[in-house]
Amino acid sequence: KNSAVIAPSILSANFAKLGAEVDEVLTAGCQWVHFDVMDNHYVPNLTFGPMICKALKDYGITAPIDVHLMVEPVDEMIKSFAAAGADYISFHPEATKHLHRSVHLVKELGCKVGLVLNPATPINLIKDVLEDLDIILIMSVNPGFGGQSFIPKTLDKIRAVRRLIDEHNLDIRLSVDGGVKPDNIKQIFDAGADTFVMGSAIFASEDRAATIKQTLAQVN
Ligand code: DX5
Ligand code: ZN
Repeated sequence: KNSAVIAPSILSANFAKLGAEVDEVLTAGCQWVHFDVMDNHYVPNLTFGPMICKALKDYGITAPIDVHLMVEPVDEMIKSFAAAGADYISFHPEATKHLHRSVHLVKELGCKVGLVLNPATPINLIKDVLEDLDIILIMSVNPGFGGQSFIPKTLDKIRAVRRLIDEHNLDIRLSVDGGVKPDNIKQIFDAGADTFVMGSAIFASEDRAATIKQTLAQVN
């Protein structure tokens, strides 16, 4: 099993001082930066584009940038974020007309590739490209907003995807995204996740460093 990664979602950060916010959570022990890209088309919200990714790279962030594309279509954004320095690019299979082509576009551009399963999207949808993936994101909320509650049924899906990865002996990170908190992360870890996206739990915390520390302690 891969070592545990906490990927803070900048969706819940203070955008007026984004560089400092990212520095703070990485210094406190988070390993990646989770970029929630929303286009007000695939999801009913609008966030930021590749410029922000490039700005953070130019600012000096060296931690892996874990881009979560909630956009439709995806191919142009795959190219823009690869050019802007993304390390992981994950997208929703429903948002492309040609899933195999979009997955291989990410790989050809030198990025690691992931697919994102919404709460009611069956694992079956991605099984024919499973071997090509570096990460699977399981949405434990409906995409579009931070601060929502974890959907408990997701635990069954996390266990099922963990079984699938292990049965095929694949090196794929299993990430859970949405409503992950210090008081439910142990359950999520025990169900088989190794990568944890946390937005409001970290950025809305009174003591971010303490929250990150106590969270990491539960998954190592
Ligand atoms: C939702 C995003 C999630 C969200 C997580 O569409 O994909 O990454 O920002 O935020 P919290 O941790 O607050 O649920
Ligand atoms: Zn996300």
